[in-house]
Amino acid sequence: MTWAPVLDARAYGTWTLGDRTVNRLGLGAMRLTGTAAFDLGARRDRETSIAVLRRAVELGVNHVDTAAFYFSPWLSSNQLIHAALAPYDDDLTIVTKVGPSRDPSGDWMTWAAPEQLRGQVEQNLRELGRDHLDVVNYRHSGPKRALVDHVGALSDLARDGLIRHVGVSNVTLQQVRDAQTVTQIVCVQNRYAVGYRASGANEVLDHCAEQGIAFVPFFAIAGQGKEGRPAAEQATQDAVNEVAEAHGASPAQVRLAWSLAQGPHVLAIPGTGDPAHLEDNVAAASLRLTPEEVARLDTLD
Ligand SMILES: NC(=O)c1ccc[n+]([C@@H]2O[C@H](COP(=O)([O-])OP(=O)(O)OC[C@H]3O[C@@H](n4cnc5c(N)ncnc54)[C@H](OP(=O)(O)O)[C@@H]3O)[C@@H](O)[C@H]2O)c1
Repeated sequence: MTWAPVLDARAYGTWTLGDRTVNRLGLGAMRLTGTAAFDLGARRDRETSIAVLRRAVELGVNHVDTAAFYFSPWLSSNQLIHAALAPYDDDLTIVTKVGPSRDPSGDWMTWAAPEQLRGQVEQNLRELGRDHLDVVNYRHSGPKRALVDHVGALSDLARDGLIRHVGVSNVTLQQVRDAQTVTQIVCVQNRYAVGYRASGANEVLDHCAEQGIAFVPFFAIAGQGKEGRPAAEQATQDAVNEVAEAHGASPAQVRLAWSLAQGPHVLAIPGTGDPAHLEDNVAAASLRLTPEEVARLDTLD
């Protein structure tokens, strides 16, 4: 059953985000600014991060996830993307997110009110050097607050031509449904990993499948490590390691292959600033787990 990796992000097929077609294996830009964007002590080398972005595109990645609030004292994800990839290929889809913001020292500021989202969109446009954004996610702050006014504000910006498509992030099933009453939602970005699925996570995944909405898990590799290094309960790690050994794959590749096996509408955005990890992650697009392996990893919540 040993697997012959193919270094090509196209290997697990495509999905559409509105009128944009993307390869299902993409890249998360949060880690380009430091080991974790929010760990101000960690430092990344600008040239390496630029090389990672260019290599990703060379390997077929055409879906990059970013945000203006992904920055360290030394680097900004959006500005790295601009430096590495502009002038942008028509095939490249850059997805960004608004809602949260950080002050120059990196501390979180108050969540944006609906009328402040235009300023956040304009900031992304300036940093990325674009006149429109392909997809903008409204990153919600929690399950108990309403989000329709924020989604409505993004819908207005789409009407004005600043945004092509709208998505939502960190949301419950009801919130996805609410957002859909306001405008077309092309993607949902929620936390979802082997060994970590919040209650209601599968209902959101299934609803997205039914509605033709992309489901884009974050922390798919980091799992319980969140913004830090990958971490997992021992039982989860042992199961992932066993499946990895059976294929001659890495644990990260197994985690990504498991995510992609959850449905054709699932897109992977593994985050890395490490050139070797990038290649490891891209190769995961050619790894197929058996139904038994997927079922075994499914039980680990
Ligand atoms: N909507 C939201 O609220 C939200 C929240 C968080 C993140 N995101 C987005 O989702 C993306 C993915 O999340 P993430 O970057 O936090 O986590 P992730 O993709 O789950 O994992 C990243 C972590 O795993 C390491 N890693 C990556 N590839 C590896 C490999 N092949 N082998 C071993 N370790 C590997 C990274 O370190 P190295 O850099 O050293 O490789 C980093 O520590 C982010 O980049 C961001 O774009 C969205």
